[in-house]
Amino acid sequence: MRRKKLLMGNWKMNHTIAEAAAFCEDVKRDNLLKLARSKNVLLGVAPSYLSLQSVKKHSHGLIVASQDAHYADHGAFTSSVSIPMLKEININWSIIGHSEKRTYDGETSFTCNRKIKSLLAEGFHVVYCVGETAKEYDEGITKDIIKEQILTGLMNVSKDDISHIVIAYEPVWSIGTGKNASEEIAEDICAYIRYLISELFGKVASQKILILYGGSVKPENIHNYMACKDVDGALVGGASLKSQSFKALLENI
Ligand code: 13P
Repeated sequence: MRRKKLLMGNWKMNHTIAEAAAFCEDVKRDNLLKLARSKNVLLGVAPSYLSLQSVKKHSHGLIVASQDAHYADHGAFTSSVSIPMLKEININWSIIGHSEKRTYDGETSFTCNRKIKSLLAEGFHVVYCVGETAKEYDEGITKDIIKEQILTGLMNVSKDDISHIVIAYEPVWSIGTGKNASEEIAEDICAYIRYLISELFGKVASQKILILYGGSVKPENIHNYMACKDVDGALVGGASLKSQSFKALLENI
């Protein structure tokens, strides 16, 4: 089956509202969505909460994702943003389980599961991030870690809803370090994730689901990953921030 590619920029805590607006202007000026369509690539960004509304308004067809969402629809959760708040500004994609949330905010796969189920119930698309730390990699337990993150994170997700999930494999040791995983590692783990999806949700779902690689992806190396059979795109941090670099990533897919 020929799957589309997905290139998503995760801006993390970067870009003010004005900077995000300038990025959107560049995307429009450079006709990036036309280029993306011609290459069968879905294009998206995940701005800060503050910029979501204006980026969505000026997105010209870009997918616009939040970087997280709370599982509860309202309540005493200081600093969190709820799914109804996101829906109100027409956001229907969210990243969940990014390693920076797991590392700095103690996010567990169990919490991710609650968030994912709440998002799916509201019709969202979810980019669920998984990945092992350097220590886990050195210990040779990468697949055990990925399996736990997938089994717990996707617990009680229905066969219908799995079509709304994208998995991003982001080895923690490769994020922001310039130490990108080799194509062999990326393919091995993405193929393993596809196998797990097949076991859990059936062969058809496993052939349809998009699985991304993330971790020090740059315009110079993105092509190598796209040549891997089970890698359907990239989740990119640093190299997605400047519009020229984002454009180069797309051109090199
Ligand atoms: P970098 O591309 O900066 O390594 O970040 C990857 C990432 O965490 C995307 O979510």
